[in-house]
Amino acid sequence: MGVSEQLRFLWQFVRHPKEVGSVVPSSRYLACAVVEHVSPRARCVAEFGPGTGPITRVLLERLGPAATVLALEIDPAFCAVLRRELADHRLRVVEAPAQELPARARDLGCAVEAVVSGLPFANFPPALRREIVTAAHDALAPGGVFAGYGYAPFALPPVLRAVFGNCATSFEWRNMPPAFVFVARKLSSEFRVPGS
Ligand SMILES: C[S@@+](CC[C@H](N)C(=O)[O-])C[C@H]1O[C@@H](n2cnc3c(N)ncnc32)[C@H](O)[C@@H]1O
Repeated sequence: MGVSEQLRFLWQFVRHPKEVGSVVPSSRYLACAVVEHVSPRARCVAEFGPGTGPITRVLLERLGPAATVLALEIDPAFCAVLRRELADHRLRVVEAPAQELPARARDLGCAVEAVVSGLPFANFPPALRREIVTAAHDALAPGGVFAGYGYAPFALPPVLRAVFGNCATSFEWRNMPPAFVFVARKLSSEFRVPGS
């Protein structure tokens, strides 16, 4: 990660502290700890809050040539950075909130197999946390995975347990600050044939 990326990130944090939620982008260690939960064979992966793209880069390295990464980011400055610096035919950067994932995935005709999140859930009110996690759950195919990170275990895990019914936690020391990684899976038994 270059100095210019760090400065850009810091500047956006100064302008929108609650939404950006951190003064530095995620380290490669943290990005790898999140992305390792995504199957390298996945064809459609959504990313919430890519920022300057540290997780996006690792995701694109992991996925095959036919994959699509649908990145939902609300900050137009970060969207511009991603479009300019991560020119990859597999990446769709959409300037929209994470809550719109089900509609945006439908527009693309994409069955979402994994959602990775860089969102600062601890800064969000409980209703918004629930709305975003529910949108991820609704968009995911049965068996799909949600992986996100946070600096404290109080914000995201209870919502993942409430919506997905499960949440596994690990810890990545090699990040500034060290972070928890939270993973939930959409259980296949929740799959319902429409009309049944
Ligand atoms: C902590 S930064 C993470 C950036 C990057 N993923 C990383 O790990 O360094 C959070 C990002 O989420 C974006 N964001 C905040 N609320 C959002 C929402 N509701 N939908 C999509 N993006 C959002 C912010 O603009 C910011 O880019």
